[in-house]
Amino acid sequence: MQPIVVDRSAIQRAHQRTIHKYRSVRASSESAFSRHASAGPVSHDSPNRAESFWGGIPQVQVRRSNWTRPDSESRATLSHTAHQSARFARSRRVAHELVKSLLGILLFALLFTSSAAAQELDPQQPLQRILFGSCIKQEQPLPIVDAMLREQPQLLLMLGDNIYADTADMAVMQAKYETLAQHPEFRRLKAACPILATWDDHDYGLNDGGADFPKRDAAQRLFVDFWGDRADSPRRTRPGVYEAHIYGPPGQRVQIILLDTRYFRSPLKQGERRVGGPYVPDNDPTKTMLGEAQWAWLAEQLKTPAEFRLIGTSIQFAASDAGQETWSNFPREQQRLVELIASTKANGVVLLSGDRHWAELSAWEDAAPYPLYDLTSSSLNQLHRRGTPTENTRRVDERTWHQENYGLVTINWAPGDPVLTMSVRDMQGATRIEKTIRFSELRSNR
Ligand SMILES: [Fe+2]
Repeated sequence: MQPIVVDRSAIQRAHQRTIHKYRSVRASSESAFSRHASAGPVSHDSPNRAESFWGGIPQVQVRRSNWTRPDSESRATLSHTAHQSARFARSRRVAHELVKSLLGILLFALLFTSSAAAQELDPQQPLQRILFGSCIKQEQPLPIVDAMLREQPQLLLMLGDNIYADTADMAVMQAKYETLAQHPEFRRLKAACPILATWDDHDYGLNDGGADFPKRDAAQRLFVDFWGDRADSPRRTRPGVYEAHIYGPPGQRVQIILLDTRYFRSPLKQGERRVGGPYVPDNDPTKTMLGEAQWAWLAEQLKTPAEFRLIGTSIQFAASDAGQETWSNFPREQQRLVELIASTKANGVVLLSGDRHWAELSAWEDAAPYPLYDLTSSSLNQLHRRGTPTENTRRVDERTWHQENYGLVTINWAPGDPVLTMSVRDMQGATRIEKTIRFSELRSNR
């Protein structure tokens, strides 16, 4: 793999330009959003959901010095000297590029080493404040971090589209991870609390991509390096980035399960394009969302004792047929998870999702053995241009939120019947959507 040459000052200049652009576009979009919000549903959607609301990614370029053409009298005298100068300049350029390459390798190693040294959470510590979020455009400012840090989180779950790589070129993907690694607000976030992550299509490498993405293994290696997986992490040896952890002592255990909805996912079926996108439900029994290895692993995880279980899925689980990517594109797989929760008698499952560039609360209320709530938070630094969510018959709170947001799960470990509150919060930390559930409402034997 070619080393990445990093020009830090160029990246900083690009970042400053983007801050200006972000502020001006955000100011104008807020007024546009207000108009949308009052105008009600519209009959179209972005033809490509990867399309950037903010426009193109700023290019980081090496500035070239201006070249002045010599006048006619000087041209002849200069020709020999110019030839020698050109050779000298070429040698200097080669040496310069070599030094830059070495510095690039060193910087990349330092950045990723610092990822590995990210905060770690004591597994015995009861969790009370967990943040989650998704969809970071790595070149754009991330001012929502101020509100996130005021929450004093113990843990942050990143649910995918954590960068917009959108490439099969691993050198390009690596450079985009590096941009996030150097992002000042992201660095503050990472310094403040431990982070666990899974991926969605854009950091996987292909918009709406699945198992047929040929660079999935190479992308996984970059992913686990960036997120600082330990040397013995199973994600370094098995296909897919799914993982699970349990925090807290008996009686106060929270299980965190992060699914991989990309590595094994079968091709999606397309139908007539409608608001939301082109995908239609596919009942083909050979189609899979998680793949057999991950399903078998998940069954074992759900049998492990825990009071609450937060299942992070990059795409929405409970939302009804949307046209875009949700579990509803594979109804048999959706049903399989419901049945697995029932058969394993897993208490306390709550789903968290991202991807959509808006926030909403869905619930599969008639799912056995208890309602499955799915709180969607997206995006951390992008707006939803259309301002109207796709139809969702399982939306259980009429409030939706289309500006920058993050999710917060708090747990009050009240003796006997702990209480979980999950909310979506905006750039100022104000609550936009909220749901409180008692542990006794999520019991499999009720
Ligand atoms: Fe996505």
